[in-house]
Amino acid sequence: MLLPAALMLPALLALGWAGGARGFARLNQDVALRSAFSVARTNSMEGGPKMTVTFDAVYVNIGGDFEAKAGLFRCRIPGAYFFSFTVGKFPHKDLSVMLMKNRNEVQAIVYEENSGEERKVQSQSVMLALDFGDTIWLRLHGDPRYALYSNTGHYTTFSGYLVYPDTYDYQSQQQQQQRRQHSAAAYNSQQAPGLQEDTTPSTDKAAAAAERDALGLTDQKRQQVEEEEEEHVKEEADEEEDVEEEEEEEEEEEEEEDEEEDDQRSAFSVGRTQSIMGVDQRGSPRHPPVSFDAAFVNIGGDFNLTRGVFTCRVAGAYYFSFNVGKLPHKTLSVKLMKNQLEVQAMIYDDSQGEKALQSQSLMLALKPGDTVWLYSHQKDGFGAYSNHAKYITFTGFLVYPDVPSPTTVSSQSKAGERKP
Ligand SMILES: *[C@@H]1O[C@H](CO)[C@@H](O)[C@H](O)[C@H]1NC(C)=O
Repeated sequence: MLLPAALMLPALLALGWAGGARGFARLNQDVALRSAFSVARTNSMEGGPKMTVTFDAVYVNIGGDFEAKAGLFRCRIPGAYFFSFTVGKFPHKDLSVMLMKNRNEVQAIVYEENSGEERKVQSQSVMLALDFGDTIWLRLHGDPRYALYSNTGHYTTFSGYLVYPDTYDYQSQQQQQQRRQHSAAAYNSQQAPGLQEDTTPSTDKAAAAAERDALGLTDQKRQQVEEEEEEHVKEEADEEEDVEEEEEEEEEEEEEEDEEEDDQRSAFSVGRTQSIMGVDQRGSPRHPPVSFDAAFVNIGGDFNLTRGVFTCRVAGAYYFSFNVGKLPHKTLSVKLMKNQLEVQAMIYDDSQGEKALQSQSLMLALKPGDTVWLYSHQKDGFGAYSNHAKYITFTGFLVYPDVPSPTTVSSQSKAGERKP
């Protein structure tokens, strides 16, 4: 699930159009901007005073931001992260595991109130905007009537990765500068890891420091961070001075144009804190979208919370996932819709069971103006469960923007300057 930008870059470079690579490059080029983990647990756990779910199998821990024994992800690179987890239900126990932020901020939940003997898994996923030092972890309900099941089959897993670092805007500017310095032919050499190691400007650093103050990080941690930053600032100062003077004018000129052209981020993650009851409807829209009342992230503002509709701005391939709670004695039927009445994917559960969760995910190729939304079947006897813990979540983000065709490129950019 990592953004495989590495696969795209060579292709774009082969096309000889360096500009198009920027959108991908920033996620991949800078090794310092990578963060991803995927872990599993190979034994069960019963509800008790120690509620943090810990892990003993580490598949991926790029950046080392996940501490498996403590069960804690600690944000090192501010940005938007996608998290997903799957938890096994223990026979004759209830299941309740929450995705937590920092000390006690509940983000989302998996839940199954069904002490039946069966074993099964429940999944949940959201995207979260994290600041430096934020922690993310899973909390099992502290009552012994709750438990999670796992064995060497690794039923219980937890993954997360950075989708959009907050340094995006500055990154792209930095890359423009470098592009002007080097000829298009030299562009290849920039792919080498390490060249752009620290790209955070000092003004951003002041802002980041203020933010951390507001977050109330411990003095010790703050000191450590500040020391590290000071070093970087010193190193940078010399390099930057020369370049800046020469290019300031030029940059201002281009800035506006580039901002628009460049911002190929699009991501939303929303939750609903209320159940949905199907009612027989006549005369109203045939497939009303599910609306949401909590936004984890809405980068680009492409999701309208009250309408419940995502409208595509940047053409490309998008990943969508949604999770919906089941109401006892109601049939669960929720569809992922595109544009008018095109069903793309569906969750369905007509069991008589108690509250539980169902999940679905897929990728769609979208064009600007395409709409994507969830529809819960509008008929008596149907419905979906949620409460303040947000059983119902809906997430989508751009994985790969479409590669512009060469004709589009030359008509949009200052042709002479950017063509190799
Ligand atoms: C969301 O949609 C509603 C209903 O169409 C509209 O009134 C509102 O302005 C939209 N909000 C945004 C932020 O676009």
